[in-house]
Amino acid sequence: MTFLVTGAAGFIGSNLVHLLRRRFADRKVVSFDALTYAGNLENLAALEDDAGHVFVQGDITAPEQVAAAFAEHDVTHVFHLAAETHVDRSIDDPFAFLHTNVQGTGVLLRAAQQHWQGRDEVRFLHVSTDEVFGSLGDDGTFSEQAPYAPRSPYAASKAASDHLVRAWHETYGLPTLITNCTNNYGPRQFPEKLIPLVLCRALAGEPVPIYGTGANVRDWLFVDDHCDALCTVMERGAPGQTYCVGGRTERTNLDLVKTLLTTYDRYAGQPPGFSASLIEMVQDRPGHDFRYAMDCSFIEQELGWSPSVTLDEGLERTVRWYLDHQEWLHRVQRGEHVAFQQRWYKNGRRGTT
Ligand code: NAD
Ligand code: DAU
Repeated sequence: MTFLVTGAAGFIGSNLVHLLRRRFADRKVVSFDALTYAGNLENLAALEDDAGHVFVQGDITAPEQVAAAFAEHDVTHVFHLAAETHVDRSIDDPFAFLHTNVQGTGVLLRAAQQHWQGRDEVRFLHVSTDEVFGSLGDDGTFSEQAPYAPRSPYAASKAASDHLVRAWHETYGLPTLITNCTNNYGPRQFPEKLIPLVLCRALAGEPVPIYGTGANVRDWLFVDDHCDALCTVMERGAPGQTYCVGGRTERTNLDLVKTLLTTYDRYAGQPPGFSASLIEMVQDRPGHDFRYAMDCSFIEQELGWSPSVTLDEGLERTVRWYLDHQEWLHRVQRGEHVAFQQRWYKNGRRGTT
């Protein structure tokens, strides 16, 4: 059994690869990633000498690169995470999202179909988002029955990729699974997303931007819990099925940021309330989805998965990780990880600086 993790050098992908190596020591993991600005080899550095792990630099939109990875490693189980993921970037450059998220998913599905040729005991797990369901008002939750109503180019591209995955299941019988998850947070998240961005700003003593009124609501899930859900769905999920994953932890953005900064002040040795003064309300995101909330009772009842990390505990772990990895943060902020990766490949060996 060989796992292929696309997007493995990113935030969730790298946390998933580490979990897979801990949990399934006898199974090989192939990390596949194009190393865009969001991919960082440093996220996988601890596995450099692990014989059960292979890193392949490859682009999911390149059919020959994907087919080669399937053939060379006889991949049997795909966790598909590679994507363009930031809503604000999708507003500025939507076509990059269509290319990677839609075309790339199609290429990957075709490669799996061709390599597996109807084999049993293979699985394709597509990792998607709650944003495909659109925006909620003050009440209600998303679930597996929610209609698709994406509102940003990112969400629309993920919705299209979900539809492609279902089409491959129905038309070609590919044993696919889909998860739709709420907002993740934790170690190694790129500092364009709210929580690491706030921590960067607090570390630098710079303004912490909150879009609009700060009343928008997100449902937060610690990344290890999401990765655990992905393993659970891969092991016990039914082909063709969708599973909604969430943290049952709704917070307004303003409340979340205040709690985060309180936690930050505690661990950074600042006086209580010190960093809250950095909060600055700024212009809203165009088409900003008001509220996401997930009813995850189906995965809880069918597969016995539920979140285990509370928001307080997750934020503490996250704050401590960023405080302990400020060099990681500085290298990422300066784009040095990209330059390093380019040299790494040009020189054809690891560790060249
Ligand atoms: P991320 O931006 O941190 O990482 C994405 C990774 O994909 C990067 O390593 C990047 O190099 C790689 N990648 C991009 N284009 C590629 C290509 N053409 N070929 C190969 N690799 C490529 O993203 P993330 O937050 O870890 O999200 C991972 C997945 O989970 C995405 O599919 C996202 O839609 C989904 N998701 C994320 C969240 C969240 O809160 N972060 C929630 C639900 C679902
Ligand atoms: O819900 C799952 C989705 O969560 C994933 O599919 C996406 O890949 C991931 O990026 C995330 O999308 P969001 O747009 O919700 O995440 P982001 O961290 O960009 O923003 C979270 C909330 O905070 C959102 O309401 C916008 C707001 N925000 C964000 C930033 C970057 C601010 O108020 N200020 C900011 O500077």
